[in-house]
Amino acid sequence: MIGDTVYLNGRFLPIGEAKISPMDRGFLFGDGVYEVIPVYSRRPFRIDEHLARLQSSLDGIALANPLGNEAWRAVVARLVSEAEWEDQGVYLQVTRGADDKRDHAFPTAAVSPTVFAMTAPLLTPSAETREQGVAAMTAADNRWLRCNLKTTSLLANVLLRQQAVEAQCAETLLLRDGWLTEGSTTNALIVLAGQLIAPPKSHLILPGVTYDVVLELAALNGLPHAIRPVGEDELRAADEIWITSSTKEVLAVTRLDGRPVGDGRPGPLARRMWQWYQDFKNTVMRHG
Ligand code: PDD
Repeated sequence: MIGDTVYLNGRFLPIGEAKISPMDRGFLFGDGVYEVIPVYSRRPFRIDEHLARLQSSLDGIALANPLGNEAWRAVVARLVSEAEWEDQGVYLQVTRGADDKRDHAFPTAAVSPTVFAMTAPLLTPSAETREQGVAAMTAADNRWLRCNLKTTSLLANVLLRQQAVEAQCAETLLLRDGWLTEGSTTNALIVLAGQLIAPPKSHLILPGVTYDVVLELAALNGLPHAIRPVGEDELRAADEIWITSSTKEVLAVTRLDGRPVGDGRPGPLARRMWQWYQDFKNTVMRHG
């Protein structure tokens, strides 16, 4: 389900009237970048951070930002105000546009980027899912080496996520050379001996906005935490495993590859972090 009104190349229009060319490089090559911004009580959450990451994804694929931050904020505000839901997930996408030929190299002519935005209801995990936690599986991280860019070339993530669905898991946690990177659509953190441990940002993971919030809240609340590589053995021995994203917020993984994580229920620190996250959201809802 998405909002009736979408934004495409400078216009707000009904989704049924939004058309792009089959020559669009997003369609032909996955040559584009995107963002997903959570909106609570019609207020975008951490929009500056999402727009900064959009800029760094655009820089990473050498594509000029078609809009300034004020214009992006206006697009988001209008979509949010026209949709019926209080909590939404706004999707932004920029591709390198449609050329008149299919050539992998960038278009030489002045080809305009394609700029698209839509909104949808924000479906955070239900209370029941949070109470139970979710199952995850592991798989080899077979993505490319520029996972810090939020590109629409998501086929590896799509296939990894589908493995989870087929195994009746909520997420696939990815291991590269024996190290935890992240999930197919989330960041992943562990708790070991009372300490929260987050894999460091690098070209191998997406710098998650939720990941940053979680680490800020850990610091603010005096929760012991470290940013360092997490080995496969530590992942399997973890007392708690959390996945984080703009749509999942902070969610406990309670089974990994069929075995219980800790005692098989969401751990005490996951519960506390979830509550801190809700409290923090509430301050944003009140003050913007
Ligand atoms: N996914 N890692 C990957 C591979 C992701 O796709 C995402 C988010 C994250 C978490 O980032 P953030 O906390 O900024 O949402 C980490 C979005 C929600 C998506 O693709 O729909």
